[in-house]
Order: sequence, then C-alpha cells, then structure tokens
Amino acid sequence: MTRSFPDGFLFGTATAAYQIEGAAFEDGRTASIWDAFSRVPGAVVNGDNGDVACDHYHRYRDDVALMKQLGLQTYRFSTSWSRVRPDGGPVNAQGIDFYSRLVDELLAADIVPWLTLHHWDMPQALEEQGGWTSRDTAQRFADYALSVHDALGDRVQHWTTMNEPWCSSFLSYTAGVHAPGRTSIRDGLLASHHLLLAHGTAVQALRERDATLDLGITLNLTVADAADDKDPLDLDAARRIDGQFNRWFLDPLFHGEYPSDIVRDIRDVDAAAVSDWQDAVHDGDLQIISAPLDALGINYYHGELLSGHPQSGGEGNPHETDGQQRPTASPFPSHEGIHWVERGLPRTGMDWEVQPEGLTRLLQRVAADYAGSVPLYVTENGAAYDDVVGEDGEVADADRAAFLREHVSATLDAVESGVDVRGYFYWSLLDNFEWAWGYGKRFGIVRVDYDTQRRAIKQSGREYARIIAARAV
Ligand code: FCB
Repeated sequence: MTRSFPDGFLFGTATAAYQIEGAAFEDGRTASIWDAFSRVPGAVVNGDNGDVACDHYHRYRDDVALMKQLGLQTYRFSTSWSRVRPDGGPVNAQGIDFYSRLVDELLAADIVPWLTLHHWDMPQALEEQGGWTSRDTAQRFADYALSVHDALGDRVQHWTTMNEPWCSSFLSYTAGVHAPGRTSIRDGLLASHHLLLAHGTAVQALRERDATLDLGITLNLTVADAADDKDPLDLDAARRIDGQFNRWFLDPLFHGEYPSDIVRDIRDVDAAAVSDWQDAVHDGDLQIISAPLDALGINYYHGELLSGHPQSGGEGNPHETDGQQRPTASPFPSHEGIHWVERGLPRTGMDWEVQPEGLTRLLQRVAADYAGSVPLYVTENGAAYDDVVGEDGEVADADRAAFLREHVSATLDAVESGVDVRGYFYWSLLDNFEWAWGYGKRFGIVRVDYDTQRRAIKQSGREYARIIAARAV
C-alpha cells in the first residue's frame, strides 16, 4: 500500500560549502580551519582536501539544473564564512556575490533555498585567536550572519545557524578527528557553549532585523538504547551517551539549562575543565541560547545499543575512530565503562548501522520532550556505499535507493503518528569531500567523477525523483 505525504511537506537534498565548492582560494576567499587541517599529515585519508572538491563554485548552474531534473523542492546549502568575510575581517563582495547568484538560480528553478551559516568551516585566522574556545567568536559569528543577511535577506526565508554543534565541538576540539584537531575536554566544553551562544546571538540579531524570517538550528542526534532495559549499568551507559550527544544541546536550546547529570559525570573525569566551562557560562547566556525557534533540523544517520558490560565479540563503537579507522581520543568526556553492542544490523560503507525505525522514534521523542510546537525537519540522512560504475556508466546503487526509501518511510511513520515533521533532505546531492574520510566515501544520489567533474544521476537519484513526483512511498 502506498502512503502519501501531507501537502506542504518538502523534499530536498543537503550539501555543505567546503565539501563541494572548491575554488578554495579564488575571488578573495582565504583559509578556513578545514583548509589548514586537511594539510596536517595523516589528518585526512590520502591527504585529500577541498581545494577543488566538486568545483560547484563554477558549476552551480549545472548543479541547480540537476536538482530541477530530480524534482527537488528545496536545497540545503551552507555559506562559507571564509568566502564572505575572509579571515573573519570585512565583507568580500565577490564572495557574497556567489551566494547571491546561487540563490537567484535556485529561485528561478522554483527551489526553496535553505541556508546554513556554519557548516564547520570557520576562518583559520579566528581559530588562531582561540576559535570556538573564545567567547568573542560568538559575536563574530553574529556579525557574519548579518553580513549574509544584508545580501540575501530579501530572497532567503529559511536560516539555520549551526550544523551539528556536537561535531564542531566535541569531535573537533576533544576527539581531534575534525578541524581544528584539538584533543582537550576543556576545549570541547568551551566550544560547545560558544557555538550555542553564537547561535543564540545570531538568532537575536536576525530577529531584530526581520521578525518574519524562519530561524533554526540543525543538531545531529542519536537514539541511545540500553542493551537490557532492566540492567542498571546498561541503562546508565545509554543515559550517558544520550546526555553527551543529544541532551547537551537540546536541554540548553529548549529548556534553558545544561543537563546536570552530565555536568556531574564530566566533573568526575576532569574537574578543572568543568570549572573553566562554568566560568564561561555567563549569567543571561542560557536565556539567549533558548530564544524561541521556528524550526529544528535533525540529522540522523544511525542509533546505538549500549551496555555497561564489556562485550566479548568486539564493539561496534561508531564514534572513536578517524577516517583511517584508527582509534582516537573519545569525543565523549565521560566514556569509561560504556560499551557498544554489536547487533548484526546491515552496515553502510561508513560502517554505520542501518536503523530506519530509530529515525521514527527520534522524531517522536524530540517532539514530545523538546520541540513542542516547533516544526521538525530531517535536514540530513543518507548513506555511503562503495559504488560500482557499470560499463554503461550507470551506478546501480540499489543499497542506497533502499536506504533512502526506508528512511523517507520512517519519516512518514513519524508524521502519521502525529509529529509535525515538515521536510526531508537527503545527504547528499553529490558525492563530495567527506571530511576526514576524503573523497573515498560517496554519499551522493549523483555520482561525481573527480577527474572530469562529470555528474551522473544514480539509481538512488531516480528512485528519489519518483518518490518526490508521487509524494508517496
Ligand atoms: C554529517 C555532516 C555532513 C556529512 C554527513 C555524512 O555529520 O553534517 O557534512 O559529512 O555527516
């Protein structure tokens, strides 16, 4: 039986500036933390970087034409801070003009632009002044947000401040897997607070400009289940991961407070770090951070099954390796005694479990415990697979097509259970630079041949186009 999506539900795809644009040093753009980090030996697989990426900077017209061909209703992209305000300094007219042309092209194709201001590529010059561990960066971010609004505010309705602050704090400043590659619990904590403060400060500034904008943030969230929900140690392991991954961001944004159980856990591990973090949380910050939103974006890739007991058959921990599958520092400050349980689910090319029902439960939980009347959007969901190009040039990626269909369907399950979910963005439109994994991991519904920059719609792309045209699964 096919089931239909409600009118107004938006289907789109997502990308990010550093992962697709290339033109890294053209028209006045200067280095971001990812330009610097990708040059650190061993940081990115094969020494790959985003210098050229998908050359989208020069090919955006063709890429918008592809979106149109797929029937996409909306397109989530990010603006590069280093292009708009190189080194965090004055506005670069040529840089902002690129986004202006992109937005015009999207609107002409009847595609709703969905703009993210920070998808991890902060100017390297700001990192050298402390980066996200510095409070000043929050104000700099709000200034940058206003510069983008100056140029695009007349045409862009949907604004997302941050993409996945968990990644740009704990994965980047505590685990060191992402730029800027620091490995400090203190720095991760400070970064998380300043990212949230930057979000709140930008929301305040944009609201003052224009009360009719749709403002939101995108979080990457997980479903942390206890292996045995009668076992206190398993329950505690699930509580700690849920707390450090989900609640650390959801609680301040929607309840105006940090989760006290997690503050206690981290204090047991590093009291000095928690004390520095407490000093960084000023009176009034949480009020700024918890200002009302018009949308919450949720990025979901997989959930996890957790235990407090060591696992005999090895662990499926998806968080504590780098692009080369080398063990890294944990992004979770409090991780001793937490064990990931291998549950035999199918896995993607990232080694991530395929767990569509987790998306339904996640949407239900976030709506019930946090978002209330704030509409939810699945702003990322997707899978890397080792694609094979057939002799006819076709990519018959049945695995990705099935992944997409199952997750679109899981989203509809949430809608039908009464959750106000208003859109789904597949990650990603194009194969692209997958951070520490470089170009080896392909998430696109459109294949990119990096030698020729030729694009080819994969089977999954055709499947998505069919779903969008039918508005049903
Ligand atoms: C998310 C990122 C996105 C992409 C996907 C696979 O965490 O937001 O840029 O790398 O993972």
